[in-house]
Amino acid sequence: MSTTDRELRVGMVGYAFMGAAHSQAWRTVNRVFDLPARARMSLICGRDAGKVADAADRLGWDAHTTDWRDLIARDDIDVVDVCTPGDSHAEIALAALAAGKHVLCEKPLANTVSEARAMAAAAVTAQAAGVRSMCGFNYRRVPAVAMMRQLVADGRLGVIRHVRATYLQDWIVDPQFPLVWRLQRDKAGSGALGDIGAHIIDLTQYVTGRRITGVSAVTETFVKERPLPAGSSGLAATVDGAAADGNGADGHRPATGAVTVDDAAVFVARLDGGVLATYEASRFATGRKNALRVEINGSLGTVAFDLERLNELEFYDATRPAAEQGFSRILVTEGEHPYMSAWWPPGHLIGYEHSFTHQARDFVEAVATGVDPAPSFVDGLQVQLVLDAVTRSAELGSSWTEVEPALATVAA
Ligand SMILES: NC(=O)c1ccc[n+]([C@@H]2O[C@H](COP(=O)([O-])OP(=O)(O)OC[C@H]3O[C@@H](n4cnc5c(N)ncnc54)[C@H](O)[C@@H]3O)[C@@H](O)[C@H]2O)c1
Repeated sequence: MSTTDRELRVGMVGYAFMGAAHSQAWRTVNRVFDLPARARMSLICGRDAGKVADAADRLGWDAHTTDWRDLIARDDIDVVDVCTPGDSHAEIALAALAAGKHVLCEKPLANTVSEARAMAAAAVTAQAAGVRSMCGFNYRRVPAVAMMRQLVADGRLGVIRHVRATYLQDWIVDPQFPLVWRLQRDKAGSGALGDIGAHIIDLTQYVTGRRITGVSAVTETFVKERPLPAGSSGLAATVDGAAADGNGADGHRPATGAVTVDDAAVFVARLDGGVLATYEASRFATGRKNALRVEINGSLGTVAFDLERLNELEFYDATRPAAEQGFSRILVTEGEHPYMSAWWPPGHLIGYEHSFTHQARDFVEAVATGVDPAPSFVDGLQVQLVLDAVTRSAELGSSWTEVEPALATVAA
């Protein structure tokens, strides 16, 4: 429970899926963690006046506005939280940093490498003035994932040989599912690759402490044309008067548009230090709703994480006597485990939304104590460089494509 009088006044842009998840985090963070500053839910921004007023009321924000520029212009906002689609991340974050606001920006950092590079450069410049920024790769904040990183850092896996990562969903298997912004390159940058592939790229680089240095990729767009949406939020959408056979209520087919992103991306990669890795991101894995799984094999052991069992970690310790070897299931709910001392007694489980509360906790603590939070915008650029290399490799018949170190490209 926060005991300080110091406030960080947050202005958040976007109020749908991530807007709701971040609101939950801002509402909760002061009540669970003892922090050097209190997050205040000062202002929420959305383009529709009525809807943003409703969202402010429902999600617990003091005030609302319809233009993110108003939010940035205000003196009484310290933090800008960007929860919009990727096509507006760069513009909003750059303006916020220039105005001296700390920025939390959802992933992927941007839609292109050049946007991400500009954001990373601006963040590095802003650091000198004490302005902090962070990219919202929230899965780093699942306690079991943070513990996975500790096991690797403590040498419990020995020399890392393999990384195996999949992130699978199925929400667009139906060819009549409409053409939401996530299926349009100009809005989303890429498809399954940038939306969910970005998470496993960041997560595996974070857990291993190693960088992806090169990739060979294939991507596919299975359904190339889809009906236009009447409305959408998060992963849900509607088509105007559409019937199950794809015909509208009046018997006419609804207007359609081209899908301009990948539905699935599969790639092999090398990480520095001689690690071989495989990655798969798909929205066509029928039956898999939000299935993120990562396994890391080292010379002394293996560790595996499955988001559908997010309180657990599988660990194989090859240093134990042969007769006792086997995978153990660690229930990551002890007070000694990352983040867990603030929650419930051992064995009392946490869920998806807690990763966002932990993200808010780490961000507030970093800003209030004058430390740069991670993942930084440079880390976000590193992921963007991998996304770009995957796309280019796939376009060139899976040719091997090197990934530059992000910091070198910011300095260049
Ligand atoms: N960290 C995660 O696990 C995770 C999960 C889902 C989405 N995301 C990321 O979060 C971001 C938002 O995704 P979402 O699922 O919340 O999308 P969404 O469609 O549910 O919501 C987007 C919101 O942004 C608003 N918006 C769009 N353009 C705007 C503008 N110019 N000014 C003000 N508001 C604007 C929309 O009105 C809506 O409220 C994306 O970058 C996405 O990749 C992250």
